[in-house]
Amino acid sequence: MVERPLRVVLASGNRGKVREIQAMLADMALTVLPQSDFNVPTAAETGLTFVENAILKARNAARHTGLPAIADDSGIEVRALNGGPGVHSAVYAGEGASDKDNLEKLLEACEAVPEGERAARFVCVMVYMRHAGDATPLIAQGAWPGELLRVASGGGGFGYDPIFFVPGRGCSSAQLTPEVKNRLSHRGQALRALVAQLRAADGW
Ligand code: IMP
Repeated sequence: MVERPLRVVLASGNRGKVREIQAMLADMALTVLPQSDFNVPTAAETGLTFVENAILKARNAARHTGLPAIADDSGIEVRALNGGPGVHSAVYAGEGASDKDNLEKLLEACEAVPEGERAARFVCVMVYMRHAGDATPLIAQGAWPGELLRVASGGGGFGYDPIFFVPGRGCSSAQLTPEVKNRLSHRGQALRALVAQLRAADGW
């Protein structure tokens, strides 16, 4: 018999992500706790794919807490850069680089890329591991297609949002309300797909 509410650790210290995920899991009798509540050490993101990194993060959180874990790994892929910066998005301009450093480096790398060839997309993989040794983690993926702008605009969001043009909205993702962004975004898509799998897999 599974104890209710089931406590689940989120392999992220980002309060915004924790709130977003808690809200989406609210009717599932799950209590989502950030890994910072347990002093979980940061996992090295050594994977070559988003799914590998998400699993590394979830396994690390499950191992240190003894709880089931949810982790996400995300980034931006630019077609003209063969999918780069991809899994390196957070450290594109170097270890410890700021969002602004990363964004400026990407603008510079794509300076010569003409209009019509500036396709980019945000991607997110979200995993759920029942325990650190779970060999069949639930895995969900989301992708949000758009284009790379030439100049940053908008003050919302984070990371590469100011230079990500959302075709259906005619603005950058930094100009969307959080509600609209969650509805459209790679992370929202992945989380909804993960929730559907959780419901189907374990009868929640
Ligand atoms: P992580 O999923 O926290 O490892 O994030 C990877 C990096 O991808 C972040 O540091 C951001 O630079 C970028 N990124 C991921 N999702 C978004 C988003 O929704 N908007 C802007 N940048 C994002």
